[in-house]
Amino acid sequence: MNKKPTILVTGGAGYIGSHAALALSDASWPVVVIDNLTTGFREAVPHDVPLLVADIADQPVVETFILDHDVGAIMHFAGSVVVPESIANPLKYYHNNTAKSRSLIESAIRCGIPHFIFSSSAATYGAPAKSPVSEDTPQRPINPYGMSKLMTEIMLADVAATHPLNYCILRYFNVAGADPKARAGQSTIGATHLIKVAVEAALLKRDHVSIFGTDYDTPDGTGVRDYIHVSDLATAHVLALEALIADPATNHVLNCGYGRGFSVLEVLDAVERITNRGIVRRFEKRRAGDPGALVSDNRAILECLPWKPLHADLDEIVAHAVAWERKLGQPGGAFSNVMG
Ligand code: UFG
Repeated sequence: MNKKPTILVTGGAGYIGSHAALALSDASWPVVVIDNLTTGFREAVPHDVPLLVADIADQPVVETFILDHDVGAIMHFAGSVVVPESIANPLKYYHNNTAKSRSLIESAIRCGIPHFIFSSSAATYGAPAKSPVSEDTPQRPINPYGMSKLMTEIMLADVAATHPLNYCILRYFNVAGADPKARAGQSTIGATHLIKVAVEAALLKRDHVSIFGTDYDTPDGTGVRDYIHVSDLATAHVLALEALIADPATNHVLNCGYGRGFSVLEVLDAVERITNRGIVRRFEKRRAGDPGALVSDNRAILECLPWKPLHADLDEIVAHAVAWERKLGQPGGAFSNVMG
């Protein structure tokens, strides 16, 4: 059998990228990482994985690294991920997510990289009229984060039409949980994502959880999301890579979710159940840029890839998030303070 090519993971020191690097290593793919460590953690990259601390837009440095390591495919995770922040600071998102992706794609073309996997988002759909959402739903983002991802999707499709590169766009729904063996997890300082925030509150790292909006057109009035376990998502990347290599003439656009949704209140109930602790709930107004319900139609990924979700259970997602949070230790404690 041919030797497996090396996979470049951008943002491999971040939450999802570090799980993808683990999944690749577990499946015996050689991995290298580029991360500028603005939100990622050096400790999230295993010691035997080469890490270049650099910006993905630093083309000479990136291209030298790609050629030195004989990279055969790119998984592109690096970027900014907080929807409310994208509304407050849109240019940051068009810079970090759109402009820098353009730069990375150009480096990929210049270096002759044949396969590219891109972390896109359900946020590209905006507030779709119909749920669950299939991949052919019109993409009308309602925040700059979603727009910044959509613009990268468009660039990739245009580039692949004229250069020898195929791509897989994975549109993530709400990613949560942690590696079941607690080798990785979400370490973000000042996190805003619901499960992380709720787990921090249960473990007394915050004094309450704000519930943003109780008047949505959902069963209990709070926002409904399709929470996907980060390890199932990481596995989907490995399978997508194999599909791109097996058929270089085909591109894929796939939703990543389980096809069912939970409300904010259901998530808080699950965190209370798993931790056996109460959470102080504060009911507040809707958060700008939030759709009411966002649930995936996941038939395409189930048909296209041999993907068998292993952790599609909210309590299990929460339990893994809790285990990681306990490992992280004290309030505000950085990854590096607690891993030893
Ligand atoms: N929420 C609260 N309180 C909080 C945090 C969140 O009520 O403290 C609510 C939100 O209003 C929303 C739901 O919980 O209804 C989920 O919010 P998150 O902030 O956890 O996630 P988002 O849905 O805003 O966005 C996430 C990712 C995006 C991705 C999107 C896809 O950040 O990258 O999911 O659904 F695109």
